[in-house]
Amino acid sequence: MENIFQHGVASGDPLQDRVILWTRLTVPNQDSMELTWEIATDSDFKHIVGSGKTTARAEDDSSARVDPSGLQAGTRYFYRFHALGQTSPTGRTKTLPPNSVTHLRFAQVSCAKFNAGFFNAYASIAKRDDLDFLLHLGDYIYEAANVPPAGQTPGADIGRPFEPLHECKTLEDYRTRYNQYHRDPDVQAMHASLPIIATVDDHEFADGAWRGGADEHKEDRDDPWSARVASALRARWEWLPVRRPDPNDHLRVYRTIRLGQLADLFLLNTRIHRDQPVPPPEMNDPNRTELGLAQREWLFDELDSCKARWRILGNPSVLGTTWKKDLPDSVKPALLKTKLINADGNGPDYDQWDGYPAERDMLFRHLRDHHERNVVVLSGDIHVCMALELRVDPFNLDEEPVAVEFINTSLTSQNFDDKMKWSPRTRSIPFEQELMQAFDHMKYVDLDSHGYNAVDVTPERVEVEWWLLETVLKRNDKASIGAAFKVENGKPRLIRVK
Ligand SMILES: [Fe+2]
Repeated sequence: MENIFQHGVASGDPLQDRVILWTRLTVPNQDSMELTWEIATDSDFKHIVGSGKTTARAEDDSSARVDPSGLQAGTRYFYRFHALGQTSPTGRTKTLPPNSVTHLRFAQVSCAKFNAGFFNAYASIAKRDDLDFLLHLGDYIYEAANVPPAGQTPGADIGRPFEPLHECKTLEDYRTRYNQYHRDPDVQAMHASLPIIATVDDHEFADGAWRGGADEHKEDRDDPWSARVASALRARWEWLPVRRPDPNDHLRVYRTIRLGQLADLFLLNTRIHRDQPVPPPEMNDPNRTELGLAQREWLFDELDSCKARWRILGNPSVLGTTWKKDLPDSVKPALLKTKLINADGNGPDYDQWDGYPAERDMLFRHLRDHHERNVVVLSGDIHVCMALELRVDPFNLDEEPVAVEFINTSLTSQNFDDKMKWSPRTRSIPFEQELMQAFDHMKYVDLDSHGYNAVDVTPERVEVEWWLLETVLKRNDKASIGAAFKVENGKPRLIRVK
């Protein structure tokens, strides 16, 4: 019989005493099938601390999950499943730390475009032994068509076309896309090595997603937007080890993850609750929202009541500005190609937080006026590496920053050198220098590389390393540190350490 565990295993959404364990069965013509599972403190399964039965149901696309409780905080575990005489690969996972924790280290990633490159960053992460979890800031899948419409970037010539070839719109489409991702060996290795904590960006749904639609979504041609969002989230729940933060609200992704006394991690959804992205002058309407009112109220309450040393925002869409008036013409090509300003070159990219200036200003003033210190923003989405200091008046360096922002590059999605078709770390470098001269709040930028961040948290500081790959156009998991910055307790400034 064929391997029935061909999508591997995965774990995610750990708490101090439990973690979701996941697998998926490939058995033809079966409505549903029982599996057994076991979890142990050793990889030989000599010290089993939990076991039981679960069911892979056809209605859940043959996925199965279990949420074993009674585990110890901050502890590494191993798990596996059995069915039809076969045993799954062994997965390794870890529960959230105890309240007394004084050190955490995790990976920060986003933007895994299957047809743009190999997931070498996942392979590199899977080999590491020092990470507590993987924070996924979205674009875990791309819904795109293999030959996308104008305005979206086509894939790279690496022989990895999307399945299905067309843009995902139905439940079956999204299932097929997740199925493809989970057959990738690097995706499987990553999942088998550590738990994931994930939010969503737009491509879990559709490019440019907002509360009522998306760039390529046409109500007269496609299913209603609400049905498409429900299908996308349904397939995501089936294929990822995720806990629904509100069992009564299947749309809800935003939530708080408590990392002991060290940090609260506020995981945001900046896409499906927001108003439609629009250019100025409508963009400046003070009532427009990126978070939606319920999420905003939740976030402000959580920031106010946080007792941990660090307030960490897991923020899919870049919070700091990448636009200002009177930008020198010499930097515009880089900003246009990487979509960090509007396509006409005369305004901000209103698809990111830059398009919701009133709400961003409200957030920054709230942090300043409530003296909410030690705010660290972790962001993805823009496919380049950046480090920013965030201020109410972004370019007034006399002002104390309200937060610092560490932006990871894409796992594979194309950035400046890919789009310009020149060699990495050659002709892009002068543009990076000019960008940092044009933007005083920008302390680091790399427009070419792909990879992931390693975020290291202690009571004294948060230090972030940008781990960059040699290539994503072939399988090669070699990565090295491109830069590292830290922010110290009580001092919201970026300090370069590597
Ligand atoms: Fe992306």
